[in-house]
Amino acid sequence: MSLQDLLDEHFTYFGKRLPTLGKKVTIVTEFEPLPPMQINSDLFSWVLENLFKNSLDAIDKPIGEIKVTARYIEVDQIVRITHRDSGKGITWDNRHAVFNPGFSTKKRGWGLGLTLARRIVEEYHHGRIYISWSQKGKGTEFTVEIPVPESGSRDHVSRIAGLQRNSGF
Ligand SMILES: Nc1ncnc2c1ncn2[C@@H]1O[C@H](COP(=O)(O)OP(=O)(O)O)[C@@H](O)[C@H]1O
Ligand SMILES: [Mg+2]
Repeated sequence: MSLQDLLDEHFTYFGKRLPTLGKKVTIVTEFEPLPPMQINSDLFSWVLENLFKNSLDAIDKPIGEIKVTARYIEVDQIVRITHRDSGKGITWDNRHAVFNPGFSTKKRGWGLGLTLARRIVEEYHHGRIYISWSQKGKGTEFTVEIPVPESGSRDHVSRIAGLQRNSGF
């Protein structure tokens, strides 16, 4: 599945599910057209879901916002996704620790969500995930960056190869 399709599908689903959660959380998405790139959709959905759940947990007011953007940064050959909430924020001191296994400030938290998210992004997709902004009482922004493989051109080459096979080469 392409990253673009996954993002669209994923946020349609969350948008529909949200009204039952008791908080009035507005989801704002700004997705620019992304180059065709395949990701492991099960794993990547899981990353998005965990960022999203953490944001919902962090929003301690009756009204909040989660804003997700995605765009292709051509000079760096990456897709950058930002995931920002209007929650309670993460302290500067904890900006690395939140990714450690077992780190949780929640009563029943396992503290594994961000650990696994990091493994999926960094080990499986060779990308990066980090906290790009946070302020106490104002919110937190996570950034996920995924390198764009040269599969665009690879796809193109294999399409041509397929055509050649079909025509007897
Ligand atoms: N969006 C966020 N806003 C504020 N704090 C967050 C956010 N996301 C994660 N955290 C902090 O990082 C900790 C670790 O998150 P995570 O690994 O998902 O484990 P868990 O959700 O089980 O606590 C959370 O307990 C919380 O303190
Ligand atoms: Mg979590």
